[in-house]
Amino acid sequence: MERLPGFRDFYPEPLPSRDAGWSFDARQYVFDKWRETARRYGFREYDGPPLESLELFTTKSGDEIAGQLYNFTDKGGRAVALRPEMTPTLARMAAAHERNYKKPIKWFAVPQLFRYERQQKGRLREHFQFNADLIGETDPAADAELIALLIDTLRSFGLAEQDFVIRLSSRNAWTDYYRSQRRFSPGTPGAVPARAEHNVKQAGSAPGVPSDWAKEYDFFQTIDKLERTPPAESEKKLAALGFSLADVNRFIESGKPTTELQSILDNLGARGLRDFVKVDYHVIRGLAYYTGVVFEAFDAKGEFRAIAGGGRYDNLVKLVSGGKVDLPALGFGMGDVVLLELLKARGRLPKFDAVTDVFVLIEDETLRAQSLKLVQDLRAAGFAVDYPLTPVKPDKQFKRAQELKVGHTARVESDAYVRIRNLKTREEIVAGFADVANHLG
Ligand code: HAM
Repeated sequence: MERLPGFRDFYPEPLPSRDAGWSFDARQYVFDKWRETARRYGFREYDGPPLESLELFTTKSGDEIAGQLYNFTDKGGRAVALRPEMTPTLARMAAAHERNYKKPIKWFAVPQLFRYERQQKGRLREHFQFNADLIGETDPAADAELIALLIDTLRSFGLAEQDFVIRLSSRNAWTDYYRSQRRFSPGTPGAVPARAEHNVKQAGSAPGVPSDWAKEYDFFQTIDKLERTPPAESEKKLAALGFSLADVNRFIESGKPTTELQSILDNLGARGLRDFVKVDYHVIRGLAYYTGVVFEAFDAKGEFRAIAGGGRYDNLVKLVSGGKVDLPALGFGMGDVVLLELLKARGRLPKFDAVTDVFVLIEDETLRAQSLKLVQDLRAAGFAVDYPLTPVKPDKQFKRAQELKVGHTARVESDAYVRIRNLKTREEIVAGFADVANHLG
């Protein structure tokens, strides 16, 4: 039986194949850094269910993710989906217990996510994603705080300014551009709804409210894919929406920060992090719910897909709660796939060694019972201990101890005494049974 395409096996190191294998040790290393950095920024960990109502994602995330869902009807006849992202779950959870938490809420999670994507470099059908989100604050200071966390997360892996860049943009800037340009293009229906109400795809608009959303969403999608699409194709798509590629490119090249973006840049400047960020209006984000500031992290050489992406989604909590709770929010997601590819390519992954402290040698089988007692005593004292499960020749036992790179071997010599050998210094001592742990530190 083969594993499914786009899914991974994680082996403990040493890996069966250096290139193709995914390392559990490396994965754990990444998770530890994610958790450690989130903790330093005052974020608390949460989790939700991996299986959710299909509806949570079909109306909230946008068409692109909806087309990639692993969904089915469960035995109770419910339409369900494996989570392709964490944000709608977070919005649902925050809305349900919003009163129990002081604002701003600063939460993070490390969920495994599932998307039926075309398999390619940096894109699989499952991945783990570090999510950090801040709920209940509209001030750009919150955006800056989150971007600082993103930068410091990448720095915690030893990546520096020359290794990655945060591309900062704003959907507000794009919405303003869209509205100002379309006013003059032929066939534009009259007034458009207010910006803040407009950015999350609604299932049908109220009667009498003209909605230009579908077209605006198409426009955003075209901008999102600009760098990955041949210019002629983008030109055609934009023309159909009443825009010219040249004009769109001029807007991107201007790169003039909005007031909001400038305040984020100043905030990051005060922290000494300004040089990690550049305003880049190529970024608009594919997901439907973003409302304002958006950003993505890329490797500086542009060899890999996005390492992370996020932004503001000020209407999602309201939408998910059916209008009951209205809270501004923002966050980002950083996947493990691109990050691990990048860390490997830049030689930033440490060597992972097994951590067995002691190997208990059992050369005399009549002492197996006492040896097992020693094994358990040492484990209870907190040491990582291994030993031969069945009778094995002494030289093979010693070889195994060396392979495990243990610091010490211990051999019961009689009921009362244990011979301890330090494999580094080759020093040997004999200690009383109860005293062994004190000689292993
Ligand atoms: P996203 O841009 O869809 O955003 O994903 C964030 C990151 O997850 C990407 O930059 C990439 O590193 C990784 N990623 C996404 N899809 C895959 C895949 N198929 N295989 C491997 N890695 C992948 C979101 O998911 C938003 N919910 C993030 C967010 C949190 N926004 C606000 N809060």
